[in-house]
Amino acid sequence: IIEERAANPAAGDENRPIGYGRIQRKEDPRFVRGKGHYVDDIVLPGMLHGAILRSPVAHARLVSIDTSAALAHPGVVAVITGQDLLGLKLAWAPTLSADVQAVLATDKVRFQGQEVAFVIAEDRYAARDALELIEVDYDVLPPVIDVRTALDPGSPVIRDDIEGRTDNHIFDWEAGNAAETDAVFAAADVVVTQEMVYPRVHPAPMETCGAVADFEPIEGALTLYETSQAPHAHRTLFAIVSGIPEHKIRIVSPDIGGGFGNKVGIYPGYILAVVGSIVTGRPVKWMEDRSENLMSTSFARDYIMQGEIAATKDGKILAVRSTVLADHGAFNATAQPSKYPAGFFHIFTGSYDLQAAHCKVTGVYTNKAPGGVAYACSFRVTEAVYLVERLVDMLARKLEMDPAELRLKNLIKPEQFPYKNKTGWEYDSGNYEQALRKSMQMAGYDDLRREQREKRARGELMGIGISFFTETVGAGPRKHMDIVGLGMADGAELRIHPTGKAVVRISVQSQGQGHETTFAQIVAEELGIPPEDIDVVHGDTDQTPFGLGTYGSRSTPVSGAAVALVARKVREKAKFIAAAMLETRPEDLEWEKGRWFVKGDPSVGRTMAEIAMGAHGTLTLPEGIDGNLDAEVTYDPPNLTFPFGAYICVVDVDPGTGHVKVRRFIAVDDCGTRINPMIIEGQVHGGLTDGVGMALMQFIEFDKEGNNLGGTFMDYLIPTALEVPDWETGFTVTPSPHHPIGAKGIGESATVGSPPAIVNAVVDALAPFGITHMDMPCTPARVWEAMQGRPRPP
Ligand code: CDP
Repeated sequence: IIEERAANPAAGDENRPIGYGRIQRKEDPRFVRGKGHYVDDIVLPGMLHGAILRSPVAHARLVSIDTSAALAHPGVVAVITGQDLLGLKLAWAPTLSADVQAVLATDKVRFQGQEVAFVIAEDRYAARDALELIEVDYDVLPPVIDVRTALDPGSPVIRDDIEGRTDNHIFDWEAGNAAETDAVFAAADVVVTQEMVYPRVHPAPMETCGAVADFEPIEGALTLYETSQAPHAHRTLFAIVSGIPEHKIRIVSPDIGGGFGNKVGIYPGYILAVVGSIVTGRPVKWMEDRSENLMSTSFARDYIMQGEIAATKDGKILAVRSTVLADHGAFNATAQPSKYPAGFFHIFTGSYDLQAAHCKVTGVYTNKAPGGVAYACSFRVTEAVYLVERLVDMLARKLEMDPAELRLKNLIKPEQFPYKNKTGWEYDSGNYEQALRKSMQMAGYDDLRREQREKRARGELMGIGISFFTETVGAGPRKHMDIVGLGMADGAELRIHPTGKAVVRISVQSQGQGHETTFAQIVAEELGIPPEDIDVVHGDTDQTPFGLGTYGSRSTPVSGAAVALVARKVREKAKFIAAAMLETRPEDLEWEKGRWFVKGDPSVGRTMAEIAMGAHGTLTLPEGIDGNLDAEVTYDPPNLTFPFGAYICVVDVDPGTGHVKVRRFIAVDDCGTRINPMIIEGQVHGGLTDGVGMALMQFIEFDKEGNNLGGTFMDYLIPTALEVPDWETGFTVTPSPHHPIGAKGIGESATVGSPPAIVNAVVDALAPFGITHMDMPCTPARVWEAMQGRPRPP
């Protein structure tokens, strides 16, 4: 290795690769020393603090608001109500789903925790104390909590602010072919049907949402520090909503303490901080607390899915169909590409070669918080994978086949890629059988089944659950995808300084995924400049090119591609400059990582650093080549990428308490070319832990009055190291054929793939009781209850 490195230092070695490989994160020195810089760390001269008064009830008419006592409270500078915002035409703001959302309630409150008034004070405590002094008279209305009855004719109409609205229906959307699917079902030997609830959960990032707004009245310029996963899209939307010209708005998204979809939307608090700064002439900070985060800023899932799977009696899966009731809360604020109101749910055909598929999704208003964010998933892929992977397991049970064998029989084969599924996707690449066999081998699948048989004979409850998932990530091609009219492309700019050090500016925004490392590695791989010599700039609209941001695992598929291409553009330009320096023709040069050299004479060449100096020096440059080593691109992906994986979960269930222990978890992931295996494993570990939370512990429940019962971490449980096993990870590599470096996303695979594996394992453990399905979360109480009144296993 040492010799190799000496021969070509730009290749690096295994421990210090210049390019892809397991290098430590460049951002960690500041995080491990407590030197991260988050929104709440920002303190500006004269800064005020805002606090939001929230509705205690889920549905009520606003009769009156009296703010006089709050205004008289020491330290209070201003109190803003919905009526004040009406005057500024800011009481309602557009959502990401062509609806409007109240910034502060004017007519009614529509969910518990809705924003009613905004107090601005000299400090956070005065602002919070003054909230108690605001008198609000609510005329309470019957709430709509159960999505199943929300469309009943007598149901109270939540959105009477929308002219002509007489019910709580938002949309119907479908994909696939209903008639074809019905025909296949009618002719099938076996059909399995099940209703499944993917409960309302919350991304719950460690850092809650917040903003510091600083409006400068002389220039009419706004600087907004925000917890945002998409600074550029936010800037455009702020310009449209506020009327402040876009070039006068700067959005800065500093270090972000986890996003998981929670920081995609524009929440009333952000807008109120801006209004507060305009009204008071001073910077205003708003930071929500944990309960505000859990109660108001977005939720995820909340799908009631009727699923059906059809097969022949010898286990050939023929078709799937599904109807879904989607609870979108009081305002349709879900973050999805415009064309897809149910996100990418139509990937529910899974990893199987089917004859037909059809799904229909109905969106419904209820008196709950709005949001519908893609919590660590690419727009409803999580729900889709859960549905199909539970159905396949149920089918295996019905056919008395091993669930691994059933999957192996039906997985799409390598030679079928690119594979067009029945709902319109084109899966780019895959070798599914290889991944499943690898996971089975890592798990020792046959031995596990043997152990299970022995344990069952002794009355012990052990379960083995499999899931095989295909995701669709990297949204997306401009011709198909936009968010509020903005095409989902991303830019990258690369500048090589005269001494050969580089800065790459990207439009996506890390929330902990390690972009400062992996995006430097992409440039390093393409140019042979060591990653430590490449600065990655992101999260500041004044410093970076336009792009749609980080969510749905789109950073590597879209922005990663932009970075590879911009580096190649620089490399190409470097060739012309090197040719001039070497007094030869560009076509006579050959590239090896880090330098251009003369074909046939490797000793004569120029390194990237030498070429950079040449570009900025006194050399006479070739016609059409300007004196720098910079480039920029905007990347419009031709297709999404389709990561996949095979997961196996082993659980033990305590028959006395119903407690589920995840004893082992084997995860084999394929995200194509792997940039940094250490970061990939970290992403997988986090996602698997999330999966344990969703499968076993978490849901945002409401009582009949619409009280949110999951508003604290005492009620909404976050898994810790105690609840999870030592993860056993493996991988296969099937590059994406259309991505410049063959990479697919990885950030969300494990959150998507793990819940069905865990639930399949729990249901498998409970099979001796005749249990065939259980809704998440499989809490001890639910598991215990399911076992009661059923014949005990031997
Ligand atoms: O959009 P987001 O960053 O959340 O997701 P991602 O593109 O899946 O990337 C998550 C992290 O894993 C980033 O640091 C990626 O660069 C890294 N990654 C990788 O090293 N190799 C891949 N094939 C995919 C992602």
